[in-house]
Parts: sequence; structure tokens; C-alpha cells
Amino acid sequence: MNRETPPTIYLKDYTPPAWWIDTVDLDFVVETGATTVTARLALRRNPAVAAQPLVLDGEDLETLGVSVDGQPATFVATPTSLTLTDLPDACTLTTVVRIDPDKNTRLSGLYRSKDGYFTQCEAQGFRRITWFLDRPDVMSVYTVTLHADKEAFPVLLANGNPVAAGDEADGRHWAKWADPFRKPAYLFAVVAGKLDVLRDSFRTASGREVQLAIYVEPGKLDQCPHAMAALQKSMKWDEERFGLECDLDHYMIVAVGDFNMGAMENKGLNIFNTKYVLARPDVATDVDFENIDRVVAHEYFHNWTGNRVTCRDWFQLSLKEGLTVFRDQEFGADLHNRQTARIREVRGLRAAQFPEDAGPMAHPIRPASFVEINNFYTSTVYEKGAEVIRMIQTLIGRDAFRAGMDEYFRRHDGQAVTCEDFVAAMAAASGFDFTQFMRWYNQPGTPKVVVDGHYDPLERSYTLTCTQSNPRASDDAPALIPIRVALFTEADELIAGSERTLQLTANSQSFVFNDIGDEPVPSLLRDFSAPVNLEFDYTPEQLTLLLAFETDPFNAWEAGQRLASTLILGAAAEIAAGRTPQWPDSFTAACRRLLQTQRERGAAFVAEALTLPGETTLAEQLEIVDPDALHAARNGLRRHLAEQLEGEFSGLYAALTVKEAYAPDSEQAGRRALRNLCLSYLLELDSDALRRLAYAQFREADNMTDQFAALAALANINAAVCVQREEALAEFYDRWKDEALVVDKWLQVQSTSRRPDTLATVKALTQHPAFDAGNPNKIYALIRAFGANLVRFHAADGSGYAFMAERILLLHERNPQVASRLARSFDRWKKFDADRQAHARAALEKIRAHPGLVRDVLEVVERALG
Ligand code: ARG
Ligand code: ZN
Repeated sequence: MNRETPPTIYLKDYTPPAWWIDTVDLDFVVETGATTVTARLALRRNPAVAAQPLVLDGEDLETLGVSVDGQPATFVATPTSLTLTDLPDACTLTTVVRIDPDKNTRLSGLYRSKDGYFTQCEAQGFRRITWFLDRPDVMSVYTVTLHADKEAFPVLLANGNPVAAGDEADGRHWAKWADPFRKPAYLFAVVAGKLDVLRDSFRTASGREVQLAIYVEPGKLDQCPHAMAALQKSMKWDEERFGLECDLDHYMIVAVGDFNMGAMENKGLNIFNTKYVLARPDVATDVDFENIDRVVAHEYFHNWTGNRVTCRDWFQLSLKEGLTVFRDQEFGADLHNRQTARIREVRGLRAAQFPEDAGPMAHPIRPASFVEINNFYTSTVYEKGAEVIRMIQTLIGRDAFRAGMDEYFRRHDGQAVTCEDFVAAMAAASGFDFTQFMRWYNQPGTPKVVVDGHYDPLERSYTLTCTQSNPRASDDAPALIPIRVALFTEADELIAGSERTLQLTANSQSFVFNDIGDEPVPSLLRDFSAPVNLEFDYTPEQLTLLLAFETDPFNAWEAGQRLASTLILGAAAEIAAGRTPQWPDSFTAACRRLLQTQRERGAAFVAEALTLPGETTLAEQLEIVDPDALHAARNGLRRHLAEQLEGEFSGLYAALTVKEAYAPDSEQAGRRALRNLCLSYLLELDSDALRRLAYAQFREADNMTDQFAALAALANINAAVCVQREEALAEFYDRWKDEALVVDKWLQVQSTSRRPDTLATVKALTQHPAFDAGNPNKIYALIRAFGANLVRFHAADGSGYAFMAERILLLHERNPQVASRLARSFDRWKKFDADRQAHARAALEKIRAHPGLVRDVLEVVERALG
């Protein structure tokens, strides 16, 4: 192949910048067909580094002028660099470039979405706006002036505070903003558009008044109040939990419909995917409301963990992301339901991060190298990163963790730092030795911990022997793994004094519990105290006991998941061998008991406990996956439970009706979740009456949670004719075709359907007016969600793979980041049988062979094939 191999960047090669840029003055002239950007940079040599030429980063810039201290300068330009030699030690560099945001389909840098202009600069989008040292350790004070047509772009925003504005000739106007805080270029943002705004304010603990504003496309103001409330709650929470106050006079959120990711924490001017701002009970589900709370909080929390203290280089991404996810998780747990929040975190980790960590893209939370940094905004960096922070808190305790945070800001406020700096602050505050713990930052892979229990009746002692291994790690050295445990008697009581956090530091290590009267049932890894796979040879009776009586809700849930996994995996093997699986009555009885105790245990918990482990998670436990058998087994168990517990499901379905006005609070949401779970089980039965029940719910619901749950249950039905299914899908689209985010739900409910004709449906939908091949949300809802539909994407004939390859090649130049995310669908292709592998390999090779393949996709595909 005659293609230049894109360079690999290594953490070990980090060197400090040769130049600092103290101030940046930017002038944007926004015109149809082009935007002109004039940048004045106050440059100063970094005295700590040997003298070097100035080499600025750029991408897709048309250079119109370069001058130094007011004089035209000589320079050497390549498409991606601008080099100036023989500069004085301090000088002002002025560049003028032309960019074309209307043609920027990558949604990185300055781009157009509908009738406005927006920016996304993390990680390396600023270089698509102007020549710059586009790296997070170069921090500058910015002033920005925007000029645009007043009628078309009445709102002109940039980071910081508005300092002046006025009118210009030809119906144009301008606005000037100044951000008093030094910041790296990735936190830069501007917006120009016609937008509605919801305003409010927040008074901080020390009494400063922060002006809050949420900007949205015209007509959507009634979908903003929830996000505004979430912002105010986040601000309060961060003061109370971490003593962190907002440092800004203006905090703005702008929602945009075309956005590659979830949201972006630009200093004082967050830009959000509409998905994480807009909500109203009739268009957003309980889960949407909760996600908005978490993402609004996440971006706000970045103002300290990310902005005030930022990353030295992009290898340190988890410094800000892992920590900030941990913070938004804690906020969500305090705001909603701590028990189910933890369960969902772990469910998510197992569905996405564990497979990633076992596949070709596995990397430590701090990668050692990358080709394209955008490929490393992963669930490993984010979610496993958050687990690593959580382990620090578990090891040193909440108070020491808080002291460590204080110490971190005392030491590093205003700096660009490394993960070591963070851990060193935690060590200083706690006295804990984190030397061994650093392995979590440097090694990929999910450790496996095998636990063996031995009871000695003469000694009245119980010994737990833990053995760890991690085949993905580069050596056999042990990790430090905190394992929370408690012991239960066979008579279902927690043994007093048995709750401990074991610190597994050796490859194999024993822990002795004394004064234990009878052989106990150990509850291991309570609250999921470490991101590991823990094995213990439980009997079904022991798991049933833990499911019923464990006081740690996470481990009660976990016991149920273990029981269900064993049954489903066993049944899948039976089905693959042509036999009919048998289901034990004990499991049905345990589920019945859960349904009967929903009042005491909470509807939200019971809903989680009765949700069987997902196919993707189950597949990780298999050497070679037979997706059809796995699918049949899991749904077979669902149907079995529906048959056995039809009365209970129907009874609870009726009993759990929420009678008060809709509110997205955790109490109501829990009841809706359990009620809708009952409905989804009931629809496993071939019953027209139950389908009519679902359809009635669909028609009568006054909120999207219930309406969509009914639609999703109906969408799975695979009868030759199911009028309720067809009518619900048609009505849903007809009613919501003007609400982009609801249309995404309509696409996704079809792309994730169990039905065998799903691929054909997805293909047809790519031609439907509802689909937009340039909009990330639409692509994620229809194409990427199909890639996560295990049984349909991994169809035996390779049709799913061929389709995905085709979509990736259609998209890669238009939007490399989104195309690369689609390519991740292939991650686990080697876990399937030889025929499927042959089809997947052919699809991957076809992508790799494509002339001009973007490096984002190339990195993913090469790792998959490699
Ligand atoms: N920092 C943003 C967040 O935490 C994510 C931005 C990712 N952008 C990207 N191009 N990869 O929410
Ligand atoms: Zn983040």
C-alpha cells in the first residue's frame, strides 16, 4: 500500500514547549463562504529550554499574512506547520488566515450547524482556526472580537466577560470578550448565531454572583429549565463536597445539534450536544433527565478539575476525565439513588470498558502512545479512570481524599500537570504509599482475582486466599487491589466485625478472619471496590442468599447477575448442542421474592436486579461466542420468567402506576422503571391482549419514559403481523418528526431491535428523511447502535460487517472522529467463529485498503487486524 504511515506519538518523548504565548488577541470576521481570523500572539522564549525555531500547528488554513512586531516576516509553511526562525526572545506575531467553517464537516475547529457557527477545540481543533502552539501546557490570556451580520447572527459569544459591542456598516455588528483566566487553546470557544437564551444566576458561598445563561435554537426555551436547575445544583454540590466555588462572572452553556461528543467544558462557555441540554417530560425519558444532570455537572466540575488545573499533555487525559467522571458519578448518586447509580456504573463498565480492555484497542488509563488522540476519549480513560480515582478514595477514606483534593489545588492551581502530580497530592494528604498503585495508570487489562475460601472449625477461622492475574499486562507484577468484603452466616446474617477492605498487594495472598463460628458465605468486592473480574466458587444457594440478604445493594445485585449469567451461559451451550435448556425453579423463586419485596427493597433496585446481564457482557465470559445461541438463551430465560411470573408481573404493572404529575425524581423514576420492566417481560408472551396493553400505554402515556418503554417492547416483536408494532412506530414518527432528539430514539429503537430483519430496516432507514448522514447523533442512533446489536451485527453471513464497512468508508473523510467510533464495532471480531472471522477480516481489510483512509480509522482498523 502506498500510503504514508501516520506517526505514533509517545509519552516518553514529551518535552516542554520552546515558546510561551502569554496573550492571544483574536479577531474573527464571519462572512458567507469564509471567516477571516487575525491572531496576535505575544511570544516569549521558554528560558528553560534550548533555543529553537518557532513551529506552530495548523490544519486547513489559508495563510494571508505573517508579520513579526509589525513587519512582514519570512516563514516556512507546510499544510500543518508554520516555522519562523531567528525571532527575538520576545515578540508579537500576527497571522491572518482564511478558514471556511461552512465546509468543515469534521465538526472540529469552527463549523456551521444549521444557522449558527460553533467551535470544538479539544483535543486539537484550535489549529484549524489559527496557527498556534496547540498543546495543553501552553496557556494564554485571550481577548476575542467577533464581527458578523447582525440579523443572521445576533448572538456573538466567546470565553470570559463581554467588554464591548457595537454596530458596523452594512448591517453588521461586533462584540468583544475578554477571559481573565490563562487557559490552553483546547478550552477556547466562540459562537455566532440566532439563539434563544434562558438566564438565571447563582450566588456562591462567598457571595459572588454568577450570571448563568443557556443558549438554544429558537423555540426550545421550554426544554431548558432542567439543565439550568442541574447547573445550579452542581455549583452548590461542589461547594459542599469539595469546597470549590465558581470563579466566573458568566457561565454560559450553548446547545448545538451537530456535535461529535457529549459536551465540552470551554472556560465559561460550555458547548453541549442538544442531547444533554434539552428535556421536557413529553420528549425526554427519566434516563435522559438523569444524564443531563450528570453531563451538566461533569462540564461544570471541569472548571476546577480540567480548567484551573489542566493536563500537561494528552497522555494525561484521565487526570481530568477520570477525576471529573468520578465527581459527576458522586453528584448523581447524591442527587438520585446511590445504590442504583453504582449498579448502573458497573453495568456500563462491563458492557463497554471491559470489552475494550480485552480487545485490540486496550490501553492503560494513561496510554503510552497514540496515533490519533481523538481515538483515546474512551471508556477506559473516562470510566476506568473514574474507578481508579474511586479506589484512591476507598484506600485512604473520604476525609483524606478531600484533603488530597485541597492539596492538589494548593499545589497546582493554574498549572498543567500529570497524573503523578495528582497522586502525589493524595499521598501527601494521606500518608499512603501509592507506589504500587501507579500500576493502574500504566497497565491495560482487567485483572482477574480468583478467591478461595477455607473454613477451619477447630481454629474457628476463615481464610480467604486471593490470586490475581492480568494477561494483558506487560509483566507479572501484582496490582494493589482493594477488596471490600463481609461475611454472612448461612442463616443470612451479617457477621459483626467482618466488614473489611482487604488490600491485595501480592500475586497471591491470604486473609484470615478469626472467631467465626460456622462456615460463612463471603460477600466479595462489595460496592465494586475495584475494576476487576472476581471469581469465587459460589453455590446457587449461596448466591440466592446474598441476593436476598446482602446489605450492600451492589453485591446483592451482583449475586443475581452471577446466578443469571451461569444459567444463560449454560443454556447457550445447550442450545448450541441442539438441546432445550432447563431452568431451575430456584431462580424463578428468587425473582418472585424480589417482586414481592419491591416495597422494602425499592422499585429501582428490583428493576436493576431483574434486568438480565446484557449479551455483550455475557459474550466476554465466552472463549468463542455463538451470538445466536446466546441471544436465544437470554431471551429464553426472559420468556421462562414471563411464563412463570405472569401474575406477579401483571399485578405489579397495575400496582405501580404513577398517579401524581410527572417528575423526573428517583422515586417516580424507580417505579416507572420497574413497571416498564414488567411490561417488557410480559411482551415475551405471545399474547394479543398484552400487546394491546403495551399499545394502550404507548397511546396514553403523558411522558416519554412510558411512551418509549412501550414502543421499545413492541419494536422487538417478531410476529408475522403485529399491528400494534407497526402503528406505534408510525405514530411515533408522525408525532415527533420535528423533534430531532426524539427522532434519534425512533431510529435507535429500530436499529437495536431483536428482529431478524433489522439490518434491512436499518439500510432502509439510511434513505429515510429522518436520517442525516452528516449528523453524529443520527449516525450514533442508527449505525453505531446497530454495531452494538450483538446478534444482528455479527450475523453469520457477514452482512452486518459489510454494511458497517460501507458506512465507515462513506463517512471517514466527512467526519473522521465519528467514522472511527463506528470502526470500534469490530473490536471483538476475534471472539467469533472462523466463518464470521473471515467475513469480519474481509470487511476490515477492505477499509484498510481504501485509498486516503483517514488516520483516525486507520489506527483502529490496524489495531483490530494486527
Ligand atoms: N472534554 C470533553 C468532556 O469531557 C470531551 C471532549 C472530547 N472531544 C473530542 N474531540 N474527543 O466531556
Ligand atoms: Zn470530561
